This record gives sequence, C-alpha cells and structure tokens, in this order.
Amino acid sequence: MPTLRLVVNGNAYTLDVDPQTSLLTVLRDQLDLTGSKYGCGEGLCGACTVLIDGKAQRSCITRVGSVVQKKVTTIEGLASGDRLHAVQQAFLEESAMQCAYCTSGMIMSAVSLLNANHSPTESEIVDFMDGNVCRCGTYSRIVSAIQRAAKVMAGSPAAKGGSR
Ligand code: FES
Ligand code: FES
Repeated sequence: MPTLRLVVNGNAYTLDVDPQTSLLTVLRDQLDLTGSKYGCGEGLCGACTVLIDGKAQRSCITRVGSVVQKKVTTIEGLASGDRLHAVQQAFLEESAMQCAYCTSGMIMSAVSLLNANHSPTESEIVDFMDGNVCRCGTYSRIVSAIQRAAKVMAGSPAAKGGSR
C-alpha cells in the first residue's frame, strides 16, 4: 500500500492508503473527521463538501491521491480555537438547519463562495449553492445566513478563514 502525506486542517498526516480511495472515506474512517457526511456518494448532494486550497470540492468523488500537494480543510478546521468562523456563527444565528445532515457541506460551500465573492447577490448565492441539497428545506434560512456572514466578514477581516 502506498504511503501518502496529507495536510488536513493544518495538520500533516502520513497514511498507508490506496490513492484511489475517496477523500471522504479517508477523512471519516482513517482521520476520524466525521463532520463531512456521506449522502449520495456521487457528487450530487454536497453533504461531503470540503475545501481544497480554499475551494469547495465534493470529497466523495475526490481521490485521496489527488490532494497530496494541497491543503484540505474540513468543518472541523474552520473555527479558530473557541471562535467560530463567521459562516458557522451565522448559520447558528439564523437557525439555518433542522436535522443538520447537510449543514457542514452547506457551510463549506458558503465559505468557498465568500472566499471568491465577498458580497454575493441573493441570486449568486442561490446559483452557487444549487448543488447542495437540504432535505429539510431550510434553503431560505441558509441564504439569510450566508448574507449575514458576508456582512460580518466585510466588516472584519479576522472573521475570514477556511484556507489553512
Ligand atoms: S456524498 Fe458527496 S456529493 Fe453527495
Ligand atoms: S437540515 Fe436536514 S438536510 Fe438540511
């Protein structure tokens, strides 16, 4: 079995793993980072979304061998100590979740959006988040949370993050 070196949430890991294994499987089963969820397993629901070099990617269809030179960030790596990322805080303040199965993927996609577009319009948010499915139908609160986070992040550079 090949040895791969991964950097996840700023921590370096050396793993014996088949490079064809999905990143989601490695995160959940080998690194015990279970915040990224398995939904469809086919890149269609967004529950498994993580950041790779700051951009949202579906970890269920990402081979672990393709991320060895890259920085992976999961929901567990967003907060700075006790301080939640602005998007996490906004999701709480807007109650943008019900069962919360989709939430980590939603938050990671929202962070990716706000990394690239600091002041998205409502339609830009809806377009970007289109691939993230919420079976509980909390979409309007999710949009509100992203708008809230964008305002907070515009006023506080320290509230940004998610690329370590
Ligand atoms: S589990 Fe990865 S997109 Fe659905
Ligand atoms: S809050 Fe239940 S799937 Fe989104």
